[in-house]
Amino acid sequence: MKAKVILTSLTLVLTMTTQSSLFSQSSPAQSGKPAFEFPALPYSYDALEPFIDKMTMEIHYTRHHRAYYDNFVKAITGTEWESKSLNDIFAGISKASAVIRNNGGGYYNHILFWENMAPQGQGGQMSAELKKAIESAFGSVEDFIRQFNDAAKGRFGSGWAWLVKDAQGNLFISSTPNQDNPLMDVAEKKGTPILGLDVWEHAYYLKYQNRRPDYIEAFWNIVNWNAVNERFAQ
Ligand SMILES: [Fe+2]
Repeated sequence: MKAKVILTSLTLVLTMTTQSSLFSQSSPAQSGKPAFEFPALPYSYDALEPFIDKMTMEIHYTRHHRAYYDNFVKAITGTEWESKSLNDIFAGISKASAVIRNNGGGYYNHILFWENMAPQGQGGQMSAELKKAIESAFGSVEDFIRQFNDAAKGRFGSGWAWLVKDAQGNLFISSTPNQDNPLMDVAEKKGTPILGLDVWEHAYYLKYQNRRPDYIEAFWNIVNWNAVNERFAQ
């Protein structure tokens, strides 16, 4: 008798769970499913070795990126920002709180960063179109890399270096502090980032300590040109 009661209770719980997940799938808005999702890392934690070590990747993704995402979602929930796209949020970021600016930037910037890297040998080559645009903007690919490296090395404190496409389709290099990015209305030069490099110490300190230039040099071995080509073509 007792066993039958337990079995009935289990069936009830299972039925309720199934109905609840079905409901949340068919009606995300009502179920409280967040509008922004935390995407999976596109490769394993050790996939970028030896250029970026496994422990750095694991901490960077599961702690830092996750915290930006959680804090961003918490900060926008129940506010006017909740229903906006990331592009619209960034276009009006000067009117948002510092919590939304820092964590929204951190959430987006790291998604782009993970996507624009790939295990060595798997990132493909710069497309002919991108190469032509880079040569036209910077003189040569070597000059582009030198200028990008200088922007990354020269960022005082924490921030990012970017290759950016402006509204006319022209390329430029920039650097932003903290978790700002070129999509934000506060950025000195605005456009769509197509390649980003995180130069916060949390991105390299375990392996490179204070040698940020070595980390920047290593980055070029694991650029996912296929992803950069695609973003440039959009
Ligand atoms: Fe980071």
